[in-house]
Amino acid sequence: MRDIILAGNWKMHKTIKESKELALCLKEKFAGLPLNVIIFPTFTALYSVSESLKGTNISVGGQNVYFEKEGAFTGEISPIMLKEAGAKYVIVGHSERRNIFNEPDELIKKKIRSVVENEMDVILCVGEKLEERDAGRTEEVISKEIRIALDGISREVLDRIIIAYEPVWAIGTGVTASPDEAAEIHKFIRSILDDMFGRGMGANMTILYGGSIKPKNFREFAVLDEIDGGLVGGASLKCEDFYDIGKILMECKKL
Ligand code: 13P
Repeated sequence: MRDIILAGNWKMHKTIKESKELALCLKEKFAGLPLNVIIFPTFTALYSVSESLKGTNISVGGQNVYFEKEGAFTGEISPIMLKEAGAKYVIVGHSERRNIFNEPDELIKKKIRSVVENEMDVILCVGEKLEERDAGRTEEVISKEIRIALDGISREVLDRIIIAYEPVWAIGTGVTASPDEAAEIHKFIRSILDDMFGRGMGANMTILYGGSIKPKNFREFAVLDEIDGGLVGGASLKCEDFYDIGKILMECKKL
């Protein structure tokens, strides 16, 4: 079923102390509100942040994962370890993982399987680079990313997948896609899901927009039916800004 979600990807920001401070501020701000909020702290802060948010409407997740249970994989972290630290969600296929760390679609596919096998939900990120967009290849790129990542997944498992459309050129640049453009891509993503899993399946999926979301630009996205929420980077590091984005989302979705 479709859900309305506000997600904050903290990326490689904040010490444990700073993370706890931000988490406590968010806890106060979002207390009792009917919004599903998910934050993604660094691995080192994950456990203490999840402990300080226990019993609230804010969940935590991992920004990345490796698909093996354990073993000689220096520098990696397994789904079991994330889960033990309090993660309920894992971001897979973020463009920074794809482009800076060269993660291919086949690896992303394995990661998704290992996350859902361990009963956590996935936020699968997809999106085109500027040169791909300029070459008119946006749909082709997104289609390939989704088709490989979700190949062979059962309909039941699909319940554990959230998709985030993050055009790479809009991440951290201050430039967003136009809201209508983003909504068109969301529609396109639903059509791929229909094609892969059967008619009507796409309409049930939660799809978030991400890329330079700020309190001042988010309303235009949040009012659109196609857009079920946001995956926020930079603005999720500021308690007030993230809360303001959440308020906009609740207003627009009449929560
Ligand atoms: P910004 O909001 O900083 O553009 O980052 C978006 C993002 O990559 C979220 O995963």
